[in-house]
Amino acid sequence: MSNKINKNLYAVFGNPIYHSKSPDIHNFFYKLYNLNCNYIAINASKNFFLNEISLFFKNGGKGANITLPFKEKIFPICDIITERAKIAGAINTLKLYNKKFILGDNTDGIGFLSDLLQNNLIKRKNNILIIGAGGASRGIIYPLLKFGCNIFITNRTFEKAKFLMKKFKKFGNIKCIKIKNLKNNKFHLIINATSAEIKNDLPLIPSNIIKKKTICYDMFYGNEDTNFMKFCKKYKSEKVYNGIGMLINQAAHSFFIWNKIFPDIKKTLFFLKNKIK
Ligand code: ATR
Repeated sequence: MSNKINKNLYAVFGNPIYHSKSPDIHNFFYKLYNLNCNYIAINASKNFFLNEISLFFKNGGKGANITLPFKEKIFPICDIITERAKIAGAINTLKLYNKKFILGDNTDGIGFLSDLLQNNLIKRKNNILIIGAGGASRGIIYPLLKFGCNIFITNRTFEKAKFLMKKFKKFGNIKCIKIKNLKNNKFHLIINATSAEIKNDLPLIPSNIIKKKTICYDMFYGNEDTNFMKFCKKYKSEKVYNGIGMLINQAAHSFFIWNKIFPDIKKTLFFLKNKIK
């Protein structure tokens, strides 16, 4: 990366990064709005990613997305960090200001909330169950509480759910609940925020909390239904979603930070669904 790069270059940094859909999404946005920009995926080194990302900006990069496993580790290169990124403890969007200051932000939570709202999936005061207490849950709790939902968080390792409950209780109504105590509870929306799908697994929850009208949302996405989606359909939920809308919305919010345009979500969804068929 020693040569001067295109002034309109954007990138996503991760490791591994080959699976990322971000270049497809952002390059689609650029085409849609006729912008002279290019967005590439960079497989950053696990030891030197801070140097590599700094160099990207020194060489003219305008903005970047950060994905696994760097989201929690990118704070040191930021000059300004937004409140929502601090609260999530993770950064997924960087923007260069005045050619020298790097802003760190997080659009995952707002991207998730935007997807729920666009699809009419939540209302204030809804009871929402979040399964999982890792990075994915941390990113969505704050916007859901701010919106006014009641959150119940459960996890295979209960202590971690308890930890998140304590961390976020100052922002709204959040309780932790053991998996064995879930049965017979009524939730409007159940979110799978675990990484079980990576191991081709699914979180074990009692099937009787899934009803016809229960909305089930897996933050994962793929060409086919995830294990969690199959489970929810098996127990007759008629409203089962994957995380593709969240993916596009977090990208759209990053794009907005960089270009002050909020892109057309429906067109992008149509494009991406056809692409990953
Ligand atoms: P990260 O923090 O990077 O998102 P993580 O620390 O691996 O990832 O957390 C992922 C979440 O998925 C955790 O809540 C984890 O449960 P534990 O805290 O008990 O480990 C959950 N998880 C992963 N695999 C799971 C499985 N097969 N069943 C249920 N929960 C699972």
